Amino acid sequence: MTEGKRRDLARLGARLGLVLDARPLDDQLADAFGDGAPTLLDVGVGSGEATVAWARDHPDHHVLAVELHRPSIVAALRAVDEAGLATVRVADADARAVLDVAAPGDLAQLRLLFPDPWPKRRHHHRRLVDAAFVARAAEVLASGATFHLATDWPDYAAAVRALLEADDRLALVDGPPPSRPVTAYERAGVAAGRAATDLVAVRR
Ligand SMILES: C[S@@+](CC[C@H](N)C(=O)[O-])C[C@H]1O[C@@H](n2cnc3c(N)ncnc32)[C@H](O)[C@@H]1O
Repeated sequence: MTEGKRRDLARLGARLGLVLDARPLDDQLADAFGDGAPTLLDVGVGSGEATVAWARDHPDHHVLAVELHRPSIVAALRAVDEAGLATVRVADADARAVLDVAAPGDLAQLRLLFPDPWPKRRHHHRRLVDAAFVARAAEVLASGATFHLATDWPDYAAAVRALLEADDRLALVDGPPPSRPVTAYERAGVAAGRAATDLVAVRR
C-alpha cells in the first residue's frame, strides 16, 4: 500500500473502523455506535460504494461493512468518510469471523454483492458461501430478515440457490431484489458479457 493509504487506514480506521474481537457482536457494535439500532451486514464491500448507498437508504440502521483486502478497506473507509456517514463501520475481518460472534437474531439483513467467484471447478471450495456459511447466516438472521446475494457466475448462483432452498429456516423470495447500485465488480462482469443474478431469502 502507498504511504497515503497507510495513513488513511490509521486515521479513518480509528474513527470508522471496527477491530473485531471475540466478544458478542452486539456488545462490539454497542461500543462502536453507542446505541442498539438494527444491524445490516455487508460482506466483501470492495470500494464501499454500495455500502454507502445502503446506509443512506437505511438511516435508522447500523451497517457493518466487512472486507479482507487492505487497499479495499482504505477505499471503503474513504467512501464512508466522504459520505459523512456515522452509521457505518468497516471491519478488517473475515465475514465468517463476524458470523461466529453474532447471536441468533442479531442481523436485520445480510448482503453479499459479487463474492469472489473462484470460477475454476478446482477452486470452488474457496467460495465464501457454502453450506456452513448459509447455516450460520440462518442462525443469526432475525425473523423476517433477508439474505441477499448477487453474482454474475451462473453456477455459483445455482449452488447458493440450492443451499437456500435446502434450509427450512429460509424462504426464497421471487420478484425484484432490494435496490442496490451497480458495483465496480458487476460493471466488469457486464463488460465481459455476464449478467447478474440476485438471490433473496427471508428468515422465517
Ligand atoms: C469480487 S469482489 C466484489 C466487491 C464489491 N462487492 C463489488 O461488487 O464491487 C469480492 C470482495 O470480497 C472480499 N472478500 C473475500 N472473502 C472475504 C471474506 N471471507 N470476508 C470478507 N470479505 C471477503 C474480497 O476482498 C473482495 O473485495
